[in-house]
Parts: sequence; structure tokens; C-alpha cells
Amino acid sequence: MMNPGAAQRAVSVSEALQTRSSCRAFLPDAVPLATVRAIVDAARQSPSGGNLQPWQVYVLAGGAMARFRALLAPKLLAMPGGEPPEYPVYPSNLHEPYRSRRFKCGEDLYATLGIARADRPARLRQFARNYDFFGAPVGLFFVIDRRMGPPQWADVGMYMQSVMLMAREHGLHTCPQECWSAWPRTIAEFLELPPESMLFCGMALGYRDETAPINTLRTDRAPLAECCTFVGES
Ligand SMILES: Cc1cc2nc3c(=O)[nH]c(=O)nc-3n(C[C@H](O)[C@H](O)[C@H](O)COP(=O)(O)O)c2cc1C
Repeated sequence: MMNPGAAQRAVSVSEALQTRSSCRAFLPDAVPLATVRAIVDAARQSPSGGNLQPWQVYVLAGGAMARFRALLAPKLLAMPGGEPPEYPVYPSNLHEPYRSRRFKCGEDLYATLGIARADRPARLRQFARNYDFFGAPVGLFFVIDRRMGPPQWADVGMYMQSVMLMAREHGLHTCPQECWSAWPRTIAEFLELPPESMLFCGMALGYRDETAPINTLRTDRAPLAECCTFVGES
């Protein structure tokens, strides 16, 4: 049987960029481990300052994914707020224009599901789907040595983007997930991370459920003039 994403493979970088969006509902179909391996392998070609290659990626699928979900389920009930995070996901008092962008992103997302702003329980329930990798059969955890600084964190981000673009080439979709920063101890224990390693980000990987309303979300981008200056040109 043809895999569910076969008809939707990106064949150019621009197509991969344009068709990548954060997927928040996946089909349960398994992804062949050889495909996951090809993706994380190709992404090693990402650049990094001094060629440090400061990324570590852990792949959860099959039995390991089942064990991880079973470990987390009771913890989510007992401690819905998670564990003390090891880093802040956003600066405190996020300023403009970032504050408004973040707000709009959340509003647009919940609007796809018809969840009203005041319906906090429904929003929390939807947010909690993060901790099931949105039903994806594969979860990735990106880990960095805690002695590294901002430049190396940026390198890990480049590796992650390469993974997301390569996923498109294989007809797969992804959702990068910083929400996993709420479970650093549980993840470190599960992955048996050495003390110098810390979790940066998770990522769901699998075949997109094309019928799920939440996957209709297409976020906008500020115009080029807001992020790019052609120096000396008017
Ligand atoms: C590093 C990083 C972490 C993210 N963490 C989450 C997350 O925890 N949960 C989630 O639903 N989306 C998460 N996102 C997805 C962003 O909300 C999304 O990339 C942004 O709104 C732009 O939308 P798009 O990815 O569909 O283009 C994350 C994205 C990045 C790059």
C-alpha cells in the first residue's frame, strides 16, 4: 500500500518551505524507521559555527514511544503544570510586535476548532494534545550540552529545520514542540541523558491527518520589509 504522504512529497526546497506547517493532528500510520533514519541522517548536513555539530537527537517510535507515553500519562494527571523548566521559552514581558504575534497565533489556532477565548478548559485540553505528540507515531527530542551558548542553540535550530524540510521530501509533516521543556527531568531520565545534556525541544513526526480542522491553520508572516533591510537602498 502506498504510504499516506506519498502523493504530497516536496520536490524542491521552496516547495518544502511552502508546504511545511506545524501539524497538530497525525494519522496513526507508522513511519518506517529507515525513513526516519534517512531524515535525521540528511539533516546532519546542516551548518554549525566551527562545525561543532552540537545537536543530539533521540528518536522515539514503536515500543519506546509506548513506554514513554505510559510513563508520562500518570504524571500529566498528577502534575498538569509539569516540572520546573530548565530554560524560559519566551522572555518575560514579551514586547511588541512579538507579543501580538504570539497572541494572534494562539487565537487563530483555537479558532480552527471553534474554541472561544473564554473557554480555558477546552484550550488546556487542546494544549495537552502536545504531550501525546498530537497522535504522531514518531517523537524526536533535540538535546544540547548545557555548557553551550546561544550560537550553538541556533545551530540546533538549523538542524531541526533541516529535519522538518527533509520530512516534507518524504511526504511527512512535523510539529516542533518547545512544550516538552515542561518535562525536563522525566525526559532526561527516560532517555538516560548524562548530567551535562539538556533537552531543548521535541518534535512530532508522521503523516498529516488531512481531515483535522486544526491542520487548516496557516500562520501569516510579517512582510519582508519588517525583517530585512537592504542597506543603502530606498
Ligand atoms: C522551536 C519551536 C517550538 C515550538 N513549540 C511548539 C509547541 O510546543 N506546540 C505547538 O503546538 N507548536 C509549537 N511550535 C510551532 C509554532 O507555533 C509555529 O511554528 C508557528 O506558529 C508558525 O506556524 P507554522 O509552523 O505552521 O508555519 C513551535 C515552533 C518552534 C520553531
